[in-house]
Amino acid sequence: MAQPVVASPGNVLIFDTTLRDGEQSPGASLSVAEKVKLARQLARLRVDVIEAGFPSASPDDLRAVQQVAEALGDMPHPPAVCALARAIRADIDHAWAGVKFAAHPRIHVFIATSDIHMRDKLHMDRAAVLAHVQDMVAYAKEYCEEIEFSPEDATRSDPQFLYQVVATAVEAGASVINIPDTVGYMTPDEFGGLIRGVGENVPGIEHAIISVHCHDDLGMATSNTLAGLQAGARQAEVTINGIGERAGNAALEEVVMALRTREDAFNLRTDVDASQIARASRMVSNLTGIPVQANKAIVGANAFAHEAGIHQDGLLKNRNTYEIIRPEDVGLSKSRLVLGKHSGRHALRERLAQMGYELDSERLEAAFDRFKELGDKKREVTDADLEALIADLFYQPREVYRLIDLQVVAGRSGMPTATVKLSGPDGEEHVRAAVGAGPVDATYRAIDSIVPAQAELLEYDVHAITSGIDAQGEVSVRTTDGKRVFRGYGADTDIIVASAKAYLNALNRLLTRQERRNDEQTLS
Ligand code: KIV
Ligand code: ZN
Repeated sequence: MAQPVVASPGNVLIFDTTLRDGEQSPGASLSVAEKVKLARQLARLRVDVIEAGFPSASPDDLRAVQQVAEALGDMPHPPAVCALARAIRADIDHAWAGVKFAAHPRIHVFIATSDIHMRDKLHMDRAAVLAHVQDMVAYAKEYCEEIEFSPEDATRSDPQFLYQVVATAVEAGASVINIPDTVGYMTPDEFGGLIRGVGENVPGIEHAIISVHCHDDLGMATSNTLAGLQAGARQAEVTINGIGERAGNAALEEVVMALRTREDAFNLRTDVDASQIARASRMVSNLTGIPVQANKAIVGANAFAHEAGIHQDGLLKNRNTYEIIRPEDVGLSKSRLVLGKHSGRHALRERLAQMGYELDSERLEAAFDRFKELGDKKREVTDADLEALIADLFYQPREVYRLIDLQVVAGRSGMPTATVKLSGPDGEEHVRAAVGAGPVDATYRAIDSIVPAQAELLEYDVHAITSGIDAQGEVSVRTTDGKRVFRGYGADTDIIVASAKAYLNALNRLLTRQERRNDEQTLS
């Protein structure tokens, strides 16, 4: 049997929950293939544990966990694969079905322990919760060597009861005890104190690793996580770009780079390969459609941009004047693949393989065509351009409606007008024109007059992938049909075309989901 994951004294295990808590961000739902792709990037990043999903939530969640578990087997450093389960038998059965083929399987059992959750959500008293913890951790342990237990809403639980619950979980076989700040309520001092309290008051805790899981409702998730580690926790639960339920989770890149940059203060290390951070961040933002705010620490577009003259002058004299992290350390090298008559398929395949994309010949051909098109429009094709190209080509929903052509007239006088040509589900072509407040609005109105989807645009975000006048624009949108949120993504050197692609992408997701629901209803 594979050895359980353990932390050595100064080492912090990085438990990435982008695929589970991160995926709980509204509109962030990922397909099975997208989850596998992200999991492979997380393995390249060398996280210790991937929480791949909550298999009881849906058959797709179960399938995703299974496929992640299988897909990591051939990686050089396969992380442990973990599945979440409520403290009930059916969930634990599903969780085990998800992870059992992983090199290092882990089941994560949770139950709420705060008075408000026990009374108003679970309708259970303390004695019943304690009995459940004992029985369900022991039940999970029959399947799996490595069991993690979380008392949900730990930070609003009575500490004495919390210690009792944790002691029961350890006694029943949990080897990782996670203390979640479920509602992002505590201050760093309080959270550090709670972790110290668990370390000092729970019999048997020396046989377990203490983990921390902090939400960002008050903007303190990273500080709380670091305070927990300083107080003795040796596992941090984080997500790429800090995505997650509500305001999100502690961001992996912030926790890892804080530990690394201020090793003098923390005296703690991780095994993360920081040079993979930028790629992981872009991948998560492309796949989920959740843009990274420009001033986001470590991965924001402005994180390494120096605007003030005094700063630029200082930097030129000595980088350390204003730079505490080198952009190359997180993978923001200016690696460029220059397109010219010598840049053929081989060069493209090599570069994509270095970036972790192994394409079969059909996909390589499609990527190469796009690469050439892009090369005609841009002087240099960077890694970021290639990431966008791959996301635009291969991580899209089924194209129910496809953009064939777009023509826009805009300017200061007159009425912004867009003419759109789309191909529909049966290959038929539709051409419509519309007038709008601006060129994007006109384009979206023209699309709306063709596509039979009732969608409201919630969010529109555009930014340049690289610097320079010939940069590609990348557009993320979020739309809703009133019940669910659908994201869309598009990239192009023409931002109106990128906008049209992103909107169509979101509408195609909506239509595909409606079709699936209609099929399910017909079957039942
Ligand atoms: O925030 C939370 O409490 C959770 C638990 C399931 C660990 O995500
Ligand atoms: Zn959480």
